[in-house]
Amino acid sequence: MASDAKGQPILQVSRLNKSFRGLHALRDIDSTLFPGEILGVIGPNGAGKTTLFNCLTGYTSATSGQIRYRGQDITQLRTPAIVQRGIARTFQNIRLFGALTVLDNVRVAQQLRTPFNLVEVWASAPSFRRKEDDLTRQALAHLELFGLRQDADQLAMNLPYGAQRRLEIARALATNPQILLLDEPAAGMNATETDAVHGMILEVRDRFNVSIILVEHDMRLVMNVCERIVVLNYGEVIAEGEPAAIRQNPNVIESYLGKVQS
Ligand SMILES: Nc1ncnc2c1ncn2[C@@H]1O[C@H](COP(=O)(O)OP(=O)(O)OP(=O)(O)O)[C@@H](O)[C@H]1O
Ligand SMILES: [Mg+2]
Repeated sequence: MASDAKGQPILQVSRLNKSFRGLHALRDIDSTLFPGEILGVIGPNGAGKTTLFNCLTGYTSATSGQIRYRGQDITQLRTPAIVQRGIARTFQNIRLFGALTVLDNVRVAQQLRTPFNLVEVWASAPSFRRKEDDLTRQALAHLELFGLRQDADQLAMNLPYGAQRRLEIARALATNPQILLLDEPAAGMNATETDAVHGMILEVRDRFNVSIILVEHDMRLVMNVCERIVVLNYGEVIAEGEPAAIRQNPNVIESYLGKVQS
């Protein structure tokens, strides 16, 4: 995305703080996400990356500061309200519904954003069946995109690890988000699987017009896919910029990049 085409931010974080009994996990975070952007958030273990996602999605409440989504203050909202407004996430530790099929994992997520009218459901009205068919078709299309179409009827817990990670993304996308937060989508993957995730991130952004924040320790993926990167260390933003500048930033090399493979 050209930097002069950014427009209004879709997400704006101002002076965000999160403390856990005296441990300052996030300190005065200021950051912005623009429509269609792929923003990377990197930093050492314990830097606060997942805590930032938890605050953005209502899994934990910020100690102070503000989160604005499309100009509205969402800092105090709970997770369901945030999902309904259009922010979805994946989890660092996979949290699928293991005993449901792959298809049903996606179908459940669709309904978080598109609740059914119960009267229609009870009456099994044609409009309800049509909606059901549309949603199933859409879910299968999502599975196709993530290479999971042939696994639609398998139980999620029986999928290989890499496929489970892809299903996490498909499920998040099924809530029809405008912002997708990916917490280490390539964790534990080999280079080929990671390359596939790279392609999927770009395709998801382009096809569904979502803005993406990517938390990842795989520096090749982050540097290649992100347009801008924020670096956290001990809960603070220590650098922000384009990948080429971040790669050469002495503070970032000292605190993080010098210690990970790229
Ligand atoms: N629920 C919690 N209660 C207490 N401390 C927590 C809690 N969640 C996170 N922390 C602490 O907050 C800090 C930031 O943790 P966080 O999980 O956000 O790091 P991270 O950047 O995601 O690390 P990683 O790369 O290992 O996933 C760590 O010191 C962690 O121990
Ligand atoms: Mg984390």
